[in-house]
Amino acid sequence: MTALRTQVAIIGAGPAGMFLAHMLRQAGIDAVVIERRDRAYVEGRVRAGVLEQVTVDLMHRLGLADRLVREGLVHDGTKLALDGEPFRIDLAGLTGGATVTVYGQQEVMRDLFDAAEAAGLTTVWNAADVTLDGMDGPCPVVSWRDAGGARSLTCDYVVGCDGFHGVSRHAIPAGILRTFERAYPFGWLGILADVPPADHELIYANHERGFALASMRSATRSRYYIQCGLDGDIAAWPDDRFWDELCLRLGPDAGGRVIRGASFEKTIAPLRSFVAEPMRWGRLFLAGDAAHIVPPTGAKGMNLAVSDVTMLGDALAEHYRDGSSAGIDGYSRRALARVWKAERFSWWFTSVTHRFPTMDGFDRRIQMAELEYIRSSPAAQRVLAENYVGLPLEVA
Ligand code: FAD
Ligand code: PHB
Repeated sequence: MTALRTQVAIIGAGPAGMFLAHMLRQAGIDAVVIERRDRAYVEGRVRAGVLEQVTVDLMHRLGLADRLVREGLVHDGTKLALDGEPFRIDLAGLTGGATVTVYGQQEVMRDLFDAAEAAGLTTVWNAADVTLDGMDGPCPVVSWRDAGGARSLTCDYVVGCDGFHGVSRHAIPAGILRTFERAYPFGWLGILADVPPADHELIYANHERGFALASMRSATRSRYYIQCGLDGDIAAWPDDRFWDELCLRLGPDAGGRVIRGASFEKTIAPLRSFVAEPMRWGRLFLAGDAAHIVPPTGAKGMNLAVSDVTMLGDALAEHYRDGSSAGIDGYSRRALARVWKAERFSWWFTSVTHRFPTMDGFDRRIQMAELEYIRSSPAAQRVLAENYVGLPLEVA
């Protein structure tokens, strides 16, 4: 057994873990990141595509924004469509100038990992059987096995950034942890294809046959999703069937502009809302998907992971600099205040854009009335826009 020591142990090298590692490094705090998989696996996962200003701001602050500035696509509007009829939400005009940036999670991870290597951040890859002990005492210990054998790391604090399926959340005793959950009776079937996008903005489409989303990664790479059943079998979705269904749901206008091509990624993701409270127990903090999940409608997941670690990174910096515990003591309350507002928005946006199997004519007409209302009311559009671009860090 090799015994190691650091100030902060971070479990998981996804966006939450790596952003936090860079923040701590900038504040002069020693940290070790412990990841179950290897870099290629984490970087290869096709996930988020839309960055809120909080995420763009943190990349600038950490000196990681060169490629983002060059390659990111700044969007000052987004579109909704009801039964094939699109209408635009002027994000910037309705929010005093706020925008979102299309830049894939894969690109964010590449920037984080390249900079981590250059800065010599300590990352342990392929760590098996990660175990957390002593979180409620003065010196927590994280243990794992890797190619070099069994390891144990003693530290001041542990931050669980290990996603929804990680181990950290389960280290909090059942009598303390409360969880809140909604599962949705459908998933998203997503593809990537090297074809120009159908529109220069995203289109969230509510269609009688189900939801569809037209998104992108660049001027030459499209990302499309359609709502599908949970029993979804990828083999049942050859490219032609996917393109036909997508075009139907987007309607003649945008559907007519879809350029088809061979997909090189095709996966089904289930949709879930989930929050675990509190986000701190003793010397263990939770951040990102380890503590909360949102359905992807509205693109909040990675951005919430970033807002969590922005708050936590600053609180830990203050703690090590001044000896103050106010920031770390307030972390769970502050983070949850923003998390719940993003949960509400993602749940609502999912509810008004998807086809639920139990929906009857009444439900459908309520949904249509809600979207018609948004189409015609600047006040309703403003509510959507300010949530979509991302609420400020402090929302309590
Ligand atoms: P993760 O990215 O899950 O990272 C956790 C890391 O911990 C992983 O690398 C994992 O291997 C590691 N780990 C797990 N268990 C252990 C263990 N026991 N020991 C050590 N390491 C462990 N979000 C947006 O903001 N915008 C979008 O447009 C968007 N679109 C999405 C589309 C899809 C199809 C999906 C699936 C998600 C989307 N998201 C989006 C959500 C976003 O991808 C996640 O919210 C984000 O990855 C969360 O980051 P994280 O670091 O908290 O967790
Ligand atoms: C994406 O491009 O992957 C994407 C965009 C917007 C969302 C979800 C996913 O709401």
